[in-house]
Amino acid sequence: SILIVDFGSQVTQLIARRVREAGVYSEIVPFSAAEAALERMKPKGVILSGSPASVPAAGSPRAPQSIFDSGVPILGICYGQQVMSQQLGGQVEPGGADGERDGEFGRAFLTVTEPCVLFDGLWEVGERHQVWMSHGDRVTQFAPGFRIVAISDGAPFALIADDERRYYGTQFHPEVVHTPDGAKLIANFVRHVCGCSGEWTMAEFRATKIAEIRAQVGDQRVLCGLSGGVDSAVAAVLIHEAIGEQLTCVFVDHGLLRMNEREQVERLFRDHYNIPLVVVDAEERFMSGLAGLTDPEKKRKFIGAEFINVFEEEAKKIGGADFLAQGTLYPDVIESVSFTGGPSVTIKSHHNVGGLPERMNMKLVEPLRELFKDEVRLLGKELGLPDIFVGRHPFPGPGLAIRIPGEVSKDRCDILRKADAVYLEEIRNAGLYDAIWQAFAVLLPVKTVGVMGDGRTYDHVCALRAVTSTDGMTADIYPFDASFLSRCATRIINEVQGINRVVYDYTSKPPGTIEWE
Ligand code: XMP
Repeated sequence: SILIVDFGSQVTQLIARRVREAGVYSEIVPFSAAEAALERMKPKGVILSGSPASVPAAGSPRAPQSIFDSGVPILGICYGQQVMSQQLGGQVEPGGADGERDGEFGRAFLTVTEPCVLFDGLWEVGERHQVWMSHGDRVTQFAPGFRIVAISDGAPFALIADDERRYYGTQFHPEVVHTPDGAKLIANFVRHVCGCSGEWTMAEFRATKIAEIRAQVGDQRVLCGLSGGVDSAVAAVLIHEAIGEQLTCVFVDHGLLRMNEREQVERLFRDHYNIPLVVVDAEERFMSGLAGLTDPEKKRKFIGAEFINVFEEEAKKIGGADFLAQGTLYPDVIESVSFTGGPSVTIKSHHNVGGLPERMNMKLVEPLRELFKDEVRLLGKELGLPDIFVGRHPFPGPGLAIRIPGEVSKDRCDILRKADAVYLEEIRNAGLYDAIWQAFAVLLPVKTVGVMGDGRTYDHVCALRAVTSTDGMTADIYPFDASFLSRCATRIINEVQGINRVVYDYTSKPPGTIEWE
């Protein structure tokens, strides 16, 4: 295994992800707990992460000396490289110390100056390669025993190596995708330097998490709110495997679901897995509460609050629970950290079951916290979830309500559900579903005039949206053929009463968001 020592970088989880991709198990441990983890794990290698801290600053974190004494190979990334250099007798200077440079940020190019085991099958001496830099400080004098194997304009010690002790340091970030060969550099470290076999799989992740959940929960009870999406379903199935009947799942049907969604969830949980499931029919109370609401934030806030009310009532009925399970993924964790810590504004109030743990005095079980969406899908497959479930497009908690600008009503939801189903059926038939991050229909509160048969129509406009994305943070429109779009338009207008015009949304994110509200 690989021990990842976290000094607080925003992208430490990406290191773990790259190590997983190389087929090797890793654990991330804060630097303050690294010494104990080294004893316990006896890892084959250690990776020191980046950090917002500055090595020359008083009180900035250090790696435990025992890591250097243990003789395991070490890869230091950015701050990790600097702290290693400093601790082994080198020198690090703060950015701007020479009065000229304030570090390097963003894309940079390095030149390979000497061969190195990290470059196996990848880079040759003399080549230039793109990497991603983000550092203010830099090493100005490397520690005894090291040699330089790659340089960049701003970092003469872009990559340093001590082959004897098997210590390597990169000034750039190999773990981010903007360092195109970074994943391979990390794979070379864990396999060729540390000698890990590369056979670790999602099956082992599953086993590890099950043991962790058992240890955390003991014989107490867990409640899991299902959304119909992949994340909560995977979390629930995993937890059920760990603690069986101590888990109860609650699915709130707020009337804002897609076509057949409730039946699919019921079938999956009751028939496929035999997991206890409470389905709450709450359509009426949601529709009456939404009546008259047109402001997007008011709609979102009402749905979030009402969801909590319903959930809480159901939880009381079944005698409550000590833990709440959530399918929180790593990008949710990063986003919420930067949202609470930074000066960023609230674009939308996201609806999840966020208010519940405090209100109901519950602790959280979040077994997917370190995974990314595509990894959750792999885990879902591993757990035997049907492909149709695993590959589903994300669906927001407030559901169709945020795809109906203006006032929401049951009639409007029914119209939208039908149009959406036709659109998705066409997308699946064309074999495009998996190439698209999210595709859905939107029902506009605008009516326009049309002609069908020999009669005048005066009905709603339906907008179609489809985007590609890797994490939902940025997105681009999916460039359908015109013939595909016109087929969808024709079918929707013919088959869905209440819609007489279909348009395609050509807005990327930013400046648009994926959802319309
Ligand atoms: P936006 O519209 O902000 O959406 O570009 C980004 C991604 O988040 C989903 N989304 C939500 N998911 N609760 C959720 O669970 C919400 O309140 C919510 N709002 C948006 C959206 O579908 C897209 O995948």
